[in-house]
Amino acid sequence: MDDVDEPRPLFPLEPAGAEEPLPVVVDCDPGVDDAVALLLALAAPELDVRAVTTTAGNASLDVVTANAARVLDLAGARADLRLARGAAGPLGRARRERDADVHGVGALGGLDLPPSSRAVADASAVDVLARAVAEWPGEVVLVALGPLTTVAALLALHPRAAADLREVVLMGGAAFCEGNATPTTEFNLRCDPDAARRVTEAGVPLRVVPLDATQRALVGRGTTEPLLASDDARGRAVGALLQHLSTRRRGPDATGAGGEEAAAVHDALAVAALLDPSLCTWVGGGVRVETAGELTRGELVVDTTAGTPRARTGWARTARVAVDADPDGLGRLLLDRLA
Ligand code: BDR
Ligand code: CA
Repeated sequence: MDDVDEPRPLFPLEPAGAEEPLPVVVDCDPGVDDAVALLLALAAPELDVRAVTTTAGNASLDVVTANAARVLDLAGARADLRLARGAAGPLGRARRERDADVHGVGALGGLDLPPSSRAVADASAVDVLARAVAEWPGEVVLVALGPLTTVAALLALHPRAAADLREVVLMGGAAFCEGNATPTTEFNLRCDPDAARRVTEAGVPLRVVPLDATQRALVGRGTTEPLLASDDARGRAVGALLQHLSTRRRGPDATGAGGEEAAAVHDALAVAALLDPSLCTWVGGGVRVETAGELTRGELVVDTTAGTPRARTGWARTARVAVDADPDGLGRLLLDRLA
């Protein structure tokens, strides 16, 4: 029993922006699926993207920041949308494991986007995030799509942010399934387990979208082909990004059936799960990230009994974890918003 959290009630899982657009800030490491996620978020009238920050992960900080700027241009994002650089590497004794093979040339799967002249803030990502959260206390959702280094720094340097954030939606972990970095770990959490641990201990409500869900929500040709044929440059770009990801998956789909090329668009599912939580199946509980294990450093540990009379830990029940997802629903959402 090692709970230090201040439990906060979990929000009911309702579609975002029912009344007015939900303010969000996105920390990311584009990255092919990050790019799809950004394009989806910026195309969604339910969301008001107030800032985008970057963290090294899929590629170096310079590369992911340049990619984020290019994607924001493609999305037609406002020129005054703040873009800021975050952490260039993990906290402490983590090692950064590049995922270049998955993300391909330029970490955008060879997508040829023009260089951007968009301004990158002089302020650090942490300051930009802290300011956005302080400006709209209780309202802002932070969507974290990369290693959690920058998010952990935000919560450490600005403890008020943990109380003022409405929620953190994060793509990361392999809760009850096989990992993609090691047998038990997923890339984002494995990149910086110490940071991820701090985020899970901060007491902020979490919506976790791990591989359990993203590997089920595979997007196939029925989505990719209409996107590639779209009149909209964003749609065609998303089609190309999905096509790139499809070629990176090995073997049959996650259900064990078929073998059609299909893409796991991890980060896009996290945004989709914010827009429409009914796309995923959720369990509630407490979560932590293993930091000491010789073989399991970076593993996401979920206690579904947390906060119940039969609790196995003293962890607060601050998390919802997606354990399955609807592939057709994700495909429809991408087509609807981007084709
Ligand atoms: C996560 O790792 C990265 O390669 C992707 O962008 C995604 O955020 C999936 O494990
Ligand atoms: Ca990512």
